[in-house]
Amino acid sequence: MKTSKEIKDAVKEKYGQVARGEISSVEPKSSCCGTDDQTVVNLAPRYGEADKASIPEGADLGLGCGTPAAYADMKEGMTVLDLGSGAGIDCFVASRLVGKSGKVIGIDMTEEMIKKANENKRKIDAANVDFRLGEIEDLPVEDNSVDRVISNCVINLVPNKENAFGEIFRVLRKGGKFTVSDIVVDGEITDEERRDASLWAGCISGALDKQVYLGIIGRIGFKEITIVSEKKYDYPLKSNAALYSITVSASKP
Ligand SMILES: C[S@@+](CC[C@H](N)C(=O)[O-])C[C@H]1O[C@@H](n2cnc3c(N)ncnc32)[C@H](O)[C@@H]1O
Repeated sequence: MKTSKEIKDAVKEKYGQVARGEISSVEPKSSCCGTDDQTVVNLAPRYGEADKASIPEGADLGLGCGTPAAYADMKEGMTVLDLGSGAGIDCFVASRLVGKSGKVIGIDMTEEMIKKANENKRKIDAANVDFRLGEIEDLPVEDNSVDRVISNCVINLVPNKENAFGEIFRVLRKGGKFTVSDIVVDGEITDEERRDASLWAGCISGALDKQVYLGIIGRIGFKEITIVSEKKYDYPLKSNAALYSITVSASKP
């Protein structure tokens, strides 16, 4: 079994390569967490026209597996936190929705992604977006300070999902809500698949069983847990497990 540090180092290396353009993630064969060697085909639904217009060129690296900002019920003036913000795609959609009086914080642990996201921010002068280098399990964000948390195809990459959802709970205000798109599994992934760090970086080895995933969210204390979108992936695993992209939302009571 890989240690948490080994997994994160492998994830950082892969997404650093994606950010530097050394691995293509925008070919038709690439999609969720797409890398040349581990890809899931064309599954991420796209944002609508108004959302797309707010995304600068270079911010959509084809790494998502949903459109969390479209389901997050954001309003002007809100503070939104995007976990694993990558090149910034969902932050820029949120930026338009919360407007000048709102604020968007994007967190990513890969330095090259933060650099790329800031380059993209400059292209459209998105003054209400703040990209921060940091880890989801130890968020550089104050307690009870955020109205909405979004995340797109990232939590599966985090070794300790309890810590990730625990941190989401900590930073959300009472009545705040998260909307997370992620990969989950129905069935058992083989031990070999779980051990393979490159499969982690491809969003597969770290994916939990759907019921286990939802169980963690419930145990943390979230209410109104709802799957707002779900899609089956056609990915050839050695095991008989099926992969799904789900977008799940829940609120902090
Ligand atoms: C699959 S990409 C998704 C990027 C972006 N959400 C999108 O849809 O384009 C995963 C991103 O999450 C970041 N990431 C993975 N694990 C993380 C962690 N534990 N803490 C912070 N960022 C993490 C990676 O660096 C990478 O940029």
